[in-house]
Amino acid sequence: MLGISGSLRQESFNTRLLHASEGLAPIGMDIDVYEHLADIPPYNGDIDGENVPPVVEAFRDQVRAADGLLIATPEYNYSIPGVLKNAIDWLSTGDGGQLLAGKPVAIMGAAPTNFGSVRAQLALRQVFVWTDSKPVVKPEVIVFNAHERFDDDKLVDEGTQDLVRRLLHALAAKVTEG
Ligand SMILES: Cc1cc2nc3c(=O)[nH]c(=O)nc-3n(C[C@H](O)[C@H](O)[C@H](O)COP(=O)(O)O)c2cc1C
Repeated sequence: MLGISGSLRQESFNTRLLHASEGLAPIGMDIDVYEHLADIPPYNGDIDGENVPPVVEAFRDQVRAADGLLIATPEYNYSIPGVLKNAIDWLSTGDGGQLLAGKPVAIMGAAPTNFGSVRAQLALRQVFVWTDSKPVVKPEVIVFNAHERFDDDKLVDEGTQDLVRRLLHALAAKVTEG
């Protein structure tokens, strides 16, 4: 699986959640966390097609090769962080608009606030309708009060660990159902 964090912050709860997921995945599932989101240029239809930037080509290759995507995102101003939306825009036009079609996608999100990430998660689900992807619907993983669930880099909250485990099993099932 390719893990994508919607936050570029060094201390990001969402990036930490993705790394914690690596240890919670079912046997046989590897999670690689994408590390170049900050390098993806703004989407531009004039350079899409013939002049796609190498970083975008490489990103598309990684997504093409992945069985599925695991996205962990914060909510910025009630919606998807721009850097994440921009990256998905680049993916969505790949392979004649089919790069994300049929791709299993699991979504989760963390924030130190009470409802943080819920609205971004809902907005992301809408995006994956247009792309014909296969989002996992349940369980919903909404890691509110995230600052209470981590001990430095380690996800210590057992309830959250269990939810992430269930999400990853559901993602594996989506991959298997083809
Ligand atoms: C530009 C910006 C907008 C934000 N908007 C929201 C918001 O709409 N709702 C919310 O609960 N938190 C919001 N926050 C707070 C984030 O939930 C918080 O910074 C979170 O830790 C970001 O995720 P990260 O730890 O993965 O970087 C916002 C933060 C930033 C920087």
